[in-house]
Amino acid sequence: MKQFIIVVFLFASSNLVYAQRDASSSKTKQIAKSVDSLLGLMTLEEKIGQMNQYNGFWDATGPVPAGGDAKTKYEDLRKGKVGAVLNVTGVDKVRKLQEIAVKETRLGIPLLFGFDVIHGQKTLAPIPLAESASWDTAAMRISAANAAKEASAMGINWTFAPMVDVMRDARWGRVMEGAGEDPYLGSAIAIARVQGFQGNDLSQNYTIAACAKHFAAYGFVESGKEYNTVDIGTSTLYNMVLPPFKAAANAGVASFMNSFNTLNGIPATGNSFLQRDILKGAWGYKGFVVSDWGSIGEMMAHSYSKDLSEAAQQAVTAGSDMDMESSAYIKHLKSLVESGKVNEAMINDAAGRILSIKFELGLFDDPYKYCSEEREKTVIGSKQIVDDVFDMAKRSIVLLKNNENITTKKALLPLVAGSKIAVIGSLAADKNSPLGSWRLGADDNTAVSITEGLKNYNIGFSYEMGVAVSNKKTGFQEESSINMTDSSRFAAAIALAKKSNVVIMVLGEEGYMTGEGRSRTDIGLPGLQQQLLEAVYKVNKNIVLLVQSGRPLVLTWADKNIPTIVEVWQLGTQAGNAVAAVLTGKYNPAGKLTMSFPRSVGQLPLYYNHLSTGRGATQPNVFWSHYSDESNLPLYPFGYGLSYTKFNYSPMEILKSENSIIVNCTVKNIGKVDGEEVVQLYIRDKVASIARPIKELKGFRKIFLKAGQSEVVTFQLSKDELGFYDNNGKFIFESGEFDVFVGGNSRDVQQETVSIQ
Ligand code: NOJ
Repeated sequence: MKQFIIVVFLFASSNLVYAQRDASSSKTKQIAKSVDSLLGLMTLEEKIGQMNQYNGFWDATGPVPAGGDAKTKYEDLRKGKVGAVLNVTGVDKVRKLQEIAVKETRLGIPLLFGFDVIHGQKTLAPIPLAESASWDTAAMRISAANAAKEASAMGINWTFAPMVDVMRDARWGRVMEGAGEDPYLGSAIAIARVQGFQGNDLSQNYTIAACAKHFAAYGFVESGKEYNTVDIGTSTLYNMVLPPFKAAANAGVASFMNSFNTLNGIPATGNSFLQRDILKGAWGYKGFVVSDWGSIGEMMAHSYSKDLSEAAQQAVTAGSDMDMESSAYIKHLKSLVESGKVNEAMINDAAGRILSIKFELGLFDDPYKYCSEEREKTVIGSKQIVDDVFDMAKRSIVLLKNNENITTKKALLPLVAGSKIAVIGSLAADKNSPLGSWRLGADDNTAVSITEGLKNYNIGFSYEMGVAVSNKKTGFQEESSINMTDSSRFAAAIALAKKSNVVIMVLGEEGYMTGEGRSRTDIGLPGLQQQLLEAVYKVNKNIVLLVQSGRPLVLTWADKNIPTIVEVWQLGTQAGNAVAAVLTGKYNPAGKLTMSFPRSVGQLPLYYNHLSTGRGATQPNVFWSHYSDESNLPLYPFGYGLSYTKFNYSPMEILKSENSIIVNCTVKNIGKVDGEEVVQLYIRDKVASIARPIKELKGFRKIFLKAGQSEVVTFQLSKDELGFYDNNGKFIFESGEFDVFVGGNSRDVQQETVSIQ
């Protein structure tokens, strides 16, 4: 039996170029044939086994269900009742399980090894939100490719990334994992990341299958509360939520993961409209859909399924192909098929989709292709990966404010040699927090801290901790405990600040304060850090505030008082070196925000591409859409970020052709140093059959300009950019007037109006 299969497999997967699952490609046809032959050999139980994913036997990234013990799992694995595992990493461990699947099961079908390779495996790049601030899709592609290289060298062949959820509420801890609030930029980044993970050939041993998640609308959990209800309108679904998923599907992403939330009262996991009608129907998606951790079982808690059997039936019927950690399929699908409640064709389809990806990965040619001790030793932490991670980290940093001193006419950054520098804040010396919370594969304390980075760049300074962000070590499975009481080290920090010329304060969130399960209602500087900042400010106003966070924080007081503010996010393994490169001016920062920074948490959700409302315009009375106690505007808008140089935008020129318009704009570096600028183009459809946002990003270019140099930046807008989805999900274009905006962020733009027929 096994011999026959091997013959089929070799036929299917040798020497074939990954063809983005194009149904007409010869590779796809060959794989389809092999899958059919294999399905023909499989029992119903074995097919269902392919649809079962167990958490591995060592770590967990979710609540482990009772009864899901290692003994049962090993037994199931031996019986061919497991198609994939997660959270197993390292060649040793992967090989051990793969050997059981290949040598001890009847058909020897290899396992998929899934892992949350979110921003690197061992060598960590910046958190995805930080990376998105680079607006550099080429760099993000390289970053994902490096993550795939390291993960694959540790035995992993499938990542649960990229998260392509559009999100608008910084209270939600998972904003750190996404690409911000804009669907256009989010789509470009989704494509880059999918291409990075998967490369051009999924069967190489350095590329891995990607997973677009969380399908769909998880980024819209009410009030930013994790795992909460989602209630959005159709237009938001089609125009804001779905585009990055569609882009990922078109880029050939191997899998989708559904989400914990409901949409119109139906859990995404059991949602046929999302998975059958849209994803597998309208989009013709051929990869497979995995549930989120336990989300099939959670349909009972949603009051949608009466028991686990019904949940299994609803999930499979709705198009969830693989069950992650609910054990619903393995326990109930067989009897559901036997009783006629589930059609076996559905099982064949689901198992077939999963097997296809295994073929594409080349696992049947060599199930141990990701299990090379040699690769594991040489690839992990290789110089090229570390260099790229450093480059990505620099590109992710956003300069929020760098005011010139009125008397000296100088800004605090870049630092001037010879200044007496104080560094204050526990995060400055923290080698863990820059790793963020999605760091399952990384070792603790492996980030270059900011104080280490400064030393590496030969910057002399004195350090005082000032205050600890939390009282105890925070970990993946614990809630972080914010320090609200211990200010015993304030005095030493204040004394140091007094005798220094410049004070670098590193404040913000510890690594585990953002991420899954880390929603917060107060997103100011946590704990006593705001007090420390104000206390230090009283004795020395020359403060460079480095904000280390996994989300936009409320920095309103700081913006009013502190001359220089830099968002340094959680930058990964090379954090300190990247920060030092920016502080010294060795690298001129060019990052731009991809989420609006609020003035107050009460403004959330906050996003630039909102509708105008019937009463959006300012009135001299109270009868317009506003807050009585706060501006409507963000503190720092979408697309915003400064540089050590300045860019001038000449008036744009618009040329109309039959099917498109061309927008030209000359951008000049008018400062004294070289720098990069993200030139952004927005539109507004002035009148439409569905109200359209006041601004929508429809183009961007990142350009490098030497001091004094200028460049004409050209954008082409066709009906693809000017159209939108109607409430039936149909993409339409409506002729009429459009505002066109060009600028260096979503607020500071020049505007023209053009009429298009
Ligand atoms: C739950 C998360 O929502 C998902 O993104 C992740 O991939 C899985 N857990 C597996 O860890």
